[in-house]
Amino acid sequence: MRKKIVAGNWKMNNAKVESKTLVKDIKESVKGLELKNTRVVIAPTFVFLQRTAKKVKKSAIEVAAQNMHQAESGAFTGEISAGMLKSIGVNLVILGHSERREYFGETDELLVQKVDTALKHELEIIFCFGEVLEDRKSNNHFNIVENQIKKALFHLNSEDWKHIVLAYEPVWAIGTGETATPEQAQEMHAFVRELVAERYLSDVAEEVSILYGGSVKPANAQEIFSKEDVDGGLIGGAALKAEDFVQIIKAI
Ligand code: PGA
Repeated sequence: MRKKIVAGNWKMNNAKVESKTLVKDIKESVKGLELKNTRVVIAPTFVFLQRTAKKVKKSAIEVAAQNMHQAESGAFTGEISAGMLKSIGVNLVILGHSERREYFGETDELLVQKVDTALKHELEIIFCFGEVLEDRKSNNHFNIVENQIKKALFHLNSEDWKHIVLAYEPVWAIGTGETATPEQAQEMHAFVRELVAERYLSDVAEEVSILYGGSVKPANAQEIFSKEDVDGGLIGGAALKAEDFVQIIKAI
């Protein structure tokens, strides 16, 4: 049975004290939860990854990096490699977030390299994709998503897919307060699962967790998560308040 996942992407938020408090509060609350088939992930900024990984080591919480560079090492000032992440106990990385695509020019071609490097280092990937508003308005959203997934992931083999989590994040719903309706999310998730089933065996499609991201909050989480092909959420803003994040975990 595929896993449910609630992942908090902290983006460029929280300095030392805030990070520490948030980790502590989430850890305390998660302790009392019966998580069953659910994974809880938090993605703090790079500087606090090591400390956070240590802090949550004996808990049910996993830590993810928000990004990584595609090269093994070298003259890439300011960048972080997959090997560095592994060496501090990080086993998960978010790739292809729309903010990386939009503000840092990450293309499908670059993402292929990042995906391959991450897998080589046995990092599990939360791979983000999603259309912008114009694409949805012009009814082009399925094409866009299909291309993003095919280009970055369809060169992988079935075995590789055990290390892939998908995250559908319609760009128009990220940080805007506007959420895709549960029906819109379900429609896209089912479409993506079908794409994977056509390319691979259906058990690969059945096993891959597909998260929804974009203005998920305690008030709407349960309805979105109730949909058959929605296996959890990638949470931005609402992951910055322990209480909200924990409510969202409970919703699943
Ligand atoms: P949001 O961000 O929940 O603040 O909309 C989601 C994301 O970017 O992963």
